Amino acid sequence: MLPLKEKDKPIVEKLLTAGCCARCVLRFCCVSVQAAYRQAQHETLKELQTFIMEKENNKVQDSADIKPHDTELSQTVEDPPCKRAKLDPIEAVQSETDAAAMVTLKKEPSVCVVCLGILQDLCGPDQAVKMAETVKAQNYEFDTLVLSVSLPAQLCVREHSCWLHVKKEVRQKGLVLDKDDVIQVKEAFKWIMQGLVTRQLEGVAVVSKSPFEVGVEFTHPDTESDCHFLAKCCPDCFRPTKNKQSVFTRMAVVKALEKISDGKFLEHYPCPPSEPSGSCTPQDIQCLHVSVFIAGRYNKFCRSLPQTPWVIDGERRMESSVEELIAAPILSAFRADGFNFSSSGREDVDVRTLGNGRPFAMELLNPHRSRFSKVEMKQLQETINKSSDKIRVRDLQIVTREAMSRMKEGEEEKTKSYTALVWTQKSIENEDISFINDIKDLTLDQKTPLRVLHRRALAIRQRVIHSMNVRFVDSHHFYLGLKTQAGTYIKEFVHGDFGRTKPNLCQLLKTDTDILELDVESVDVDWPPPIPE
Ligand SMILES: *[C@@H]1O[C@H](CO)[C@@H](O)[C@H](O)[C@H]1NC(C)=O
Ligand SMILES: *[C@@H]1O[C@H](CO)[C@@H](O)[C@H](O)[C@H]1NC(C)=O
Ligand SMILES: [Zn+2]
Repeated sequence: MLPLKEKDKPIVEKLLTAGCCARCVLRFCCVSVQAAYRQAQHETLKELQTFIMEKENNKVQDSADIKPHDTELSQTVEDPPCKRAKLDPIEAVQSETDAAAMVTLKKEPSVCVVCLGILQDLCGPDQAVKMAETVKAQNYEFDTLVLSVSLPAQLCVREHSCWLHVKKEVRQKGLVLDKDDVIQVKEAFKWIMQGLVTRQLEGVAVVSKSPFEVGVEFTHPDTESDCHFLAKCCPDCFRPTKNKQSVFTRMAVVKALEKISDGKFLEHYPCPPSEPSGSCTPQDIQCLHVSVFIAGRYNKFCRSLPQTPWVIDGERRMESSVEELIAAPILSAFRADGFNFSSSGREDVDVRTLGNGRPFAMELLNPHRSRFSKVEMKQLQETINKSSDKIRVRDLQIVTREAMSRMKEGEEEKTKSYTALVWTQKSIENEDISFINDIKDLTLDQKTPLRVLHRRALAIRQRVIHSMNVRFVDSHHFYLGLKTQAGTYIKEFVHGDFGRTKPNLCQLLKTDTDILELDVESVDVDWPPPIPE
């Protein structure tokens, strides 16, 4: 039995006559019992037809129950009995008989004027099988899934037209009912499909929030022009945007429909909507898993490896990069479509990163696998370590999107330690060594280095060298250890960059100095947390 009341009769009748499918009729009667949508549509149709016929047979008693058609639209509460007396029973019964006759005449199963077939032949066991097969073929790891449905924008126009067609009757149902109380096509589609999909996927729950999304999209090219009149009525609603092929997005159409007056709408669009020539076209089913974030620290042991692919004028300069070496094994383990790499600062192509390494994080896009145990993460780390002797990775772990921002937080305040191999023109004396060793918290003014001026704005920034220590190699070479504020340009401090960094080592030692090698010894960012061995 359908949960319909006497007051639904005029709505059912009007909608069936207008060419709505049985399930759309339930929607406009605001039926929220999910089971009613799940039963076979021809059963529902039969029940609806019987429902109106009952009225036909009991017309005498029923006539008292029929709402007068001239009731004010705003009247949403029960009519007082005196109003009912105004009704002319003969005329009312006459029009109902016509409508009922038309409904019974319409035996041909036609495409619904509102849902364009989506709640008819486009949802049911066959679609569930197709969906499940697509999902299984892509071999995702998931416990639950969320179904997302994308409908053609013109469906909103048809829905609106149909709403205007029965607005009066719906409001007369007695409760304060509005367009928002009509069950949405999307909602009904999900109610029908959820259980069917679960059955096909061996019990995987279809829920309203899940990291794994299965998207179905319907288009209906024949009726796309349904929306076009709205652009004339509300040009502001349809501004071209960069990424969309059409200005008639669902959002824009909904906005325009909110603005347009009923009168204006009815001038431009048939009410009820006209019959379409065919059903919607289902597009390929799209599966998408939310991004997984992974973090760790890397060492770089090679002086000819850029951090990211180095491409100049479309041509690759170095065969590999830190991010590619790290990403390749991770991408294949997570079976992700792509990645987005970021790190706490970066080193030049000729600079090594030693010590505990540099924190990095990666967003893995559309991972087909997303759960890894501690042991599996360790194995992945080992795979990366063994894949190349240019890099190593530690503290590899899955993190949240929110945690990732910790890496960039307060980056400027952090300290970094370096070792530079320095050459001096004059020979190094003991006094030079102790002079350098005694310097504490030296503030530098650094003009943007010449070597990065092509990609960074010219500016002067202040950075602090907290301390330095000298390790003598020979009279013209020493290793200079530096503890500095993050972001200090070390190479420029050593050679002076034509006086653009002040003070610099040439000034301090009163001779020409140059930097031969540079290593990052530590990046003092306490994220990600260390993983105990
Ligand atoms: C990569 O990350 C940046 C910054 O976090 C973000 O703006 C960009 O959209 C991301 N790219 C992808 C493909 O997710
Ligand atoms: C990978 O290399 C790093 C750096 O040498 C080391 O700390 C880590 O334990 C290694 N991990 C594995 C699993 O080999
Ligand atoms: Zn329908």
